[in-house]
Amino acid sequence: MIRHLLALALAGTAFASVSSNASISLWQGDFHLTSEVACACQQLNNAHSSEVLPPSSANYTAERTRFWHIRSDLSPACIFQPSNADEVAEGVKDPVAMQRPFPGSNNIDGGVLVTLNKLREYKVHNDTIEVGPGMKWIDVIRALDPHGRAAIGGRLKTIGVPGLTLIGGVHYFINKYGFAMDNVERYDVVLGNGTQVIADSSTNRDLFWALNGGAANFGLVTKFTLRTHRIPQVSTTIQMFDESGVYDFIDAAVAMVRIDDSDPVAAGGVLTLQYNATTKVVSALLMGVQEGVSRPPSQFANFTAIPGPVKMHNVTTMRQWTEDKESPNQMFRIAFAKHSIVPNTDRLYETYQAWKKGIDTLSDVQGIYPTFVINLCPTGAMRAGRNTSVGNTWGLPLEPTIWWQFSTGWDLAQDDLRITAWSRQLSESLHEENRQLSLAREHVYMGDAGEWQDAFATFPKENVRRLKEIRDAVDPEGVFRRLNWGGFKLGD
Ligand SMILES: *[C@@H]1O[C@H](CO)[C@@H](O)[C@H](O)[C@H]1NC(C)=O
Ligand SMILES: *[C@@H]1O[C@H](CO)[C@@H](O)[C@H](O)[C@H]1NC(C)=O
Ligand SMILES: *[C@@H]1O[C@H](CO)[C@@H](O)[C@H](O)[C@H]1NC(C)=O
Ligand SMILES: *[C@@H]1O[C@H](CO)[C@@H](O)[C@H](O)[C@H]1NC(C)=O
Ligand SMILES: *[C@@H]1O[C@H](CO)[C@@H](O)[C@H](O)[C@H]1NC(C)=O
Ligand SMILES: *[C@@H]1O[C@H](CO)[C@@H](O)[C@H](O)[C@H]1NC(C)=O
Ligand SMILES: *[C@@H]1O[C@H](CO)[C@@H](O)[C@H](O)[C@H]1NC(C)=O
Ligand SMILES: *[C@@H]1O[C@H](CO)[C@@H](O)[C@H](O)[C@H]1NC(C)=O
Repeated sequence: MIRHLLALALAGTAFASVSSNASISLWQGDFHLTSEVACACQQLNNAHSSEVLPPSSANYTAERTRFWHIRSDLSPACIFQPSNADEVAEGVKDPVAMQRPFPGSNNIDGGVLVTLNKLREYKVHNDTIEVGPGMKWIDVIRALDPHGRAAIGGRLKTIGVPGLTLIGGVHYFINKYGFAMDNVERYDVVLGNGTQVIADSSTNRDLFWALNGGAANFGLVTKFTLRTHRIPQVSTTIQMFDESGVYDFIDAAVAMVRIDDSDPVAAGGVLTLQYNATTKVVSALLMGVQEGVSRPPSQFANFTAIPGPVKMHNVTTMRQWTEDKESPNQMFRIAFAKHSIVPNTDRLYETYQAWKKGIDTLSDVQGIYPTFVINLCPTGAMRAGRNTSVGNTWGLPLEPTIWWQFSTGWDLAQDDLRITAWSRQLSESLHEENRQLSLAREHVYMGDAGEWQDAFATFPKENVRRLKEIRDAVDPEGVFRRLNWGGFKLGD
């Protein structure tokens, strides 16, 4: 039961979202490019036959259905799996495969699916690790485990490195180390014309900045060099609360996000509320992780003080903790909605109550699986992001915020419209009330944003202007702009 809850809780906070135009742009290193395809597949096949999967192959099905979200099963005409940066570059240069988007096509059905899953090489250095985009976070965690070090990246085993990193990347320890993007030392990139470049603090600094949260608008990253931190042990806690603990649970979350120590203890958690519309049972769940060996973890003391049926503390390694945190795959239909608010217990509690009341109206929906997620974004996360050579693209002020989120699962296609409309309408009206109360903040994190939400529109305008300038400079032909990337596009 707990394991199931854990997977779902994390699912609500770790994935890039799915666009209703049906291609997931960033997930596990898969990049979907639509093109005039029969011909493209043939050409790719001529050049790299072992790396092109036609629909008749067994691995095609495995790749195609790899997405965890049933609504995103796709049927590309073929799948291209280059195994090194040179082949990626060749593929990008291929005028047919990559540079002619299929007019009017909105998804990859019938297109070419390019996956970077075969780029899985890594190299551990003293305080960095070079990581191929085909790697999952558990691969990175395992590689660093013998060295007692950790990277700032995904919290679920099978999340891919590029999808998470290029949209910013929330980790438990953002309060001290910032987001995944703030911990990248260097990107190796294949540009739209097939040129391979590096972007770091001294070379292509503009591109380096743009990739820090600018998503897949600039090129294909074929290698990430990530800073690592000495974190040989972590102290973990899993706690559950029933409905009588919900207010205090939210209050503890608000107190935690407000902590702003000059030398913070790295700590953070996944906080979720579940409501069963049939049994009317509410449960709150905390999965907390803190660096070091304090047991129970000191930073979660306010949660530990709340009575609840489950309190499981452990001192372990990041690897041990992560090994059983499976990502859901092909589980159910799911809709997200996400908004930002300054820490305010009463208002968050009201928001939770409104959500619960809303779920009651959906109790007849088959397989309804509602989760209210509380993501903590403490000031330290933004401070760490400013303490890098170029900073990141989000431009967030130094203040704590909470990103509250609806994550709603259900079983049947017939309910798609009903649930997505409910999720959007209720969350937007609550957010609008927060605006009236001067409690709302506009930043939307791309991970798990609703398919109707435009994260770039919430970045500072000046940053968006600069991102577009950089994109136009590194990709004058507009290869990545014209191709269908799904959700996270900068726009014209
Ligand atoms: C789908 O793509 C079309 C064409 O690119 C665009 O006009 C439309 O807004 C997109 N729809 C969504 C929901 O993103
Ligand atoms: C198919 O997948 C298996 C298991 O991942 C792998 O060993 C094999 O090399 C793949 N075949 C092709 C043609 O990619
Ligand atoms: C890496 O660590 C080893 C052992 O501590 C040390 O000898 C070496 O100088 C370090 N290398 C760098 C580049 O810091
Ligand atoms: C616990 O709550 C108190 C009171 O709100 C707050 O001052 C303190 O910072 C919190 N401690 C932690 C570790 O969250
Ligand atoms: C607690 O940590 C130990 C040491 O890493 C590990 O062997 C054990 O499985 C952990 N227990 C739980 C319940 O996670
Ligand atoms: C709600 O409770 C019912 C009855 O126990 C159960 O069948 C259903 O799976 C539960 N729903 C969720 C989302 O846990
Ligand atoms: C800022 O960066 C410096 C140099 O990389 C590092 O030593 C220091 O710990 C960082 N400070 C914070 C608050 O992250
Ligand atoms: C590829 O594009 C980059 C960025 O616009 C440019 O600097 C480079 O000269 C181009 N290379 C070729 C071979 O056209």
